[in-house]
Amino acid sequence: MSNQKEMAQASNGPAIIPAHIAIIMDGNGRWAKGKGVPLILGHKEGAAALKRVTHHAGILGVKYLTVYAFSSENWRRPQDWIDDLMGLLRFYLKHEVKELLNNNIRLRVIGDKSQFAPDIQNLIEKSENLTENNTGLTLVIALNYGGRKDILQACRNFVNHLTDGYKTFSSLSENMATLNEEEFSSFLYTKDIPDPDLMIRSSGEYRISNFLLWQIAYSELVFSHKLWPDFNEADLDDAIGMYNSRDRRFGAVFAD
Ligand code: IPE
Ligand code: IPE
Ligand code: MG
Repeated sequence: MSNQKEMAQASNGPAIIPAHIAIIMDGNGRWAKGKGVPLILGHKEGAAALKRVTHHAGILGVKYLTVYAFSSENWRRPQDWIDDLMGLLRFYLKHEVKELLNNNIRLRVIGDKSQFAPDIQNLIEKSENLTENNTGLTLVIALNYGGRKDILQACRNFVNHLTDGYKTFSSLSENMATLNEEEFSSFLYTKDIPDPDLMIRSSGEYRISNFLLWQIAYSELVFSHKLWPDFNEADLDDAIGMYNSRDRRFGAVFAD
């Protein structure tokens, strides 16, 4: 098939496919509680939902799918919950690389990886390297990610970059004065990735919880009542359908 539109029509999807979809995959805990099963089972089913949605997004022709898997604030949860989730992350990284390779998916992780156990950091690096030449969907997993921390680390990177090259405070302040949004964006974790066109949050919560704060300035927001483990291909189609019904103006005048 020659373009995204044909691919979307072939799968009965809507006509305009967002290039970048971001998802806050929320509701795993409530799903498990509702079923009376251990919390970790909710996260396992959440990983299965992620596989479904990733596969479907790839078929539709989505270029970037960024998913919030662990926030920089999730360390506030009980240690045994964190340990279980890290176990699941290890399992996912070890066993999914093959599937990512088979499906031509490139993996990228954003967030502060330095707080993870060394073996997890190695698994992330290995998976990113193995899939870096894939040309299909880019799956971006946000791990130990916080939008405010992203902006702060971009500021630090920018200043380090300038002081490396210029050394003096006056040249630093001159460069600060001409810093523009595009240049600043290139210091964020999401450098080289366009801003999300569509952001979805599952589980009926209407908040951003410190996800891509800078990057979602003009994203269309869709909130789903489905708990993340129940989220499926049709729910993604529905969200894209809502995206298609929106009029993106980016601050310009309303056009009939
Ligand atoms: C979201 O599921 C995933 C992570 C935070 C890792 P939750 O664990 O927040 O699920 P709820 O919100 O308690 O239902
Ligand atoms: C956001 O969900 C983080 C992820 C989905 C990974 P949370 O469950 O942590 O957010 P709050 O605490 O309800 O705002
Ligand atoms: Mg939650």
